[in-house]
Parts: sequence; structure tokens; C-alpha cells
Amino acid sequence: LPVNVNANSEKPVALVTGANRGIGFEVSRQIAARGYRVLMTARDDTKGQKAARILINEGYDVVFYQLDVQRLDEQKVVNDLRFYIDQNLGRVDALINNAGVFLDPSKARGGSPSVFDSKLALIRQTMDINVYGPLVLTQLVMPYMRRQHHGRIVNVSSGMGQMSEMGSGYPAYRLSKVSLNALTKIVATEVEQDFHEPDILCNTVCPGWVQTDMGGAGATIPVTQGAEMIVWLATLPKNAGRDPRLVSSIGAKKAINGLFMRGKKVLSW
Ligand SMILES: NC(=O)c1ccc[n+]([C@@H]2O[C@H](COP(=O)([O-])OP(=O)(O)OC[C@H]3O[C@@H](n4cnc5c(N)ncnc54)[C@H](OP(=O)(O)O)[C@@H]3O)[C@@H](O)[C@H]2O)c1
Repeated sequence: LPVNVNANSEKPVALVTGANRGIGFEVSRQIAARGYRVLMTARDDTKGQKAARILINEGYDVVFYQLDVQRLDEQKVVNDLRFYIDQNLGRVDALINNAGVFLDPSKARGGSPSVFDSKLALIRQTMDINVYGPLVLTQLVMPYMRRQHHGRIVNVSSGMGQMSEMGSGYPAYRLSKVSLNALTKIVATEVEQDFHEPDILCNTVCPGWVQTDMGGAGATIPVTQGAEMIVWLATLPKNAGRDPRLVSSIGAKKAINGLFMRGKKVLSW
């Protein structure tokens, strides 16, 4: 596998995107509290450094790396991140694809959310950030996970990407989250059936309507709670994903893999 190990973190390592604020910041804090070293990433260097400093001052083991997930189509950006991980961490135990944008116009902001008014450039940008970034990061971390036969990928999705509840408007965001859910299922199935890696798990989560900048004024769920399910999946202990009692407790059938979840319960796609 194409991984050079020059440095090995003794602790498990979790990579979080969009870690400077909102759910990503809280997820970083909660995962660090579970004894992980967290690789916090953010597109803005200053904001990311500041966020990491807060958690360091709280006593947590976090490091910061500047990463704009929209730039993961550039091979240099991918290579630089891999080099950083090899030099400084040597492993990735969990990937949390949290960074996301909601760019569709809304009536509240004086625009139209209708699919008939949507602009392709905005849909493409949303797909780059919400789907293709996570896809490339999944490709990047998989060799580390396969080497230790263990790994957790958590994609932060939304009920707006639930096919069975699909409604009107906001096509960029909706399409991106439907695609992220599909990506989750594709990855989970390949890892299980082609790689035969029963302890590498890939799941997607709707955090609910969470009190962050994206959630806005009406959001009902505190960010600490919105982060919980993501953290639970990201830090599931070794082999727990196929523990029959745990599997049935969340309403799953075979394994905690390839699932769409909200609040510790399986959601329909
Ligand atoms: N809040 C909710 O009610 C809710 C509901 C369902 C799903 N979600 C999902 O939860 C995730 C986190 O959302 P949130 O509520 O915490 O939103 P938020 O407060 O708006 O934070 C979004 C985060 O994503 C980062 N980001 C955006 N574009 C990026 C890029 N190109 N590269 C790297 N980072 C980028 C932002 O960085 P900057 O600070 O640089 O902008 C920020 O850190 C998203 O995937 C969202 O779709 C949220």
C-alpha cells in the first residue's frame, strides 16, 4: 500500500474537515475527549489555528492543517496532505467529512430556492465541497485504514438528502447530500465485499437541525448534541460495528456499516 510511515502516533488519529466552527469544532472536541489525536482541518488558516488553540488550551491533543476541500481536485493538495500525515501522524483511524456548504438562495435572503431558478455554477461548487471533497479524502485515508484493518468514515449528511422524504427547492444542497449518501453506500459495500475489511465502517449521519451558523436562528438542537452521533460512529471500538447487540440496538440488521443515521437510529434512504 502506498503509505510511508516515518512517524507513528500511539494514539488513534481522527481527521475532521471544517473543524474551525459549528459541528466540526464540537466533533473535534468530543473525539479528542475520547483520547484521540485530532487532525483539525479548515480552509482558513487563521480561523483554523484559532480553533485548534482553544482545544489545546482545554488540554486536548489536536493539530491543525490548512485544507480547503474544494481544492482536492489538485493533486498537489492531496499529496501535501498525505505527506503531512506520513511525517507527523503515520495513521488515520477516523475520517469525519463534516465540511459543507448550503449555497442555495432562500426567500428569507431575498432569493428563490426553486430548482427552476437554480444556477449550475452554484450546484457544481456545492458538489465539489459536499461530495467530491469527501470522495477524495476517502480515497486518501483508505490505505491507512486497510493497513491496520480498522477505520471509521463518517459523512455528515442531512435529512434534505433523504430520497424517501424528498421535497421541493434547494437543489444544490439536496443533490449534494443525496450523492454523499450514495457515496457512503458505495464505499461501505466495496470495503466489505471487495476488501473484506469487516472493521472498516462507513456511515452517514443527519445531525438534526443544529444551532450553528448554517442551522440559523430557528435551530433546535444544541451543537453538543448534534455532534454526538457523529462522534459515536467515529469512535466505535474495534469490532463493535458487528456486535449483534449494538447492531440491533440502533435498528440495523447486519452491521453498523453503510447506514444513514439520526440520533442513534437508522433512517430510511
Ligand atoms: N446545522 C444544521 O442544522 C445541519 C443540518 C444537517 C446537516 N448539517 C451538515 O453539518 C455539517 C456541518 O455544518 P454546520 O452546521 O457546522 O455548518 P457551519 O457552521 O456553516 O460550518 C461549516 C463548516 O464547513 C467549512 N467549510 C465550508 N466550505 C469549506 C471548504 N471548501 N473547505 C473546508 N471547509 C469548508 C466551514 O469553514 P469556514 O468557516 O471557512 O466557512 C465551516 O467550518 C455540514 O456538512 C452540513 O451540511 C448541518
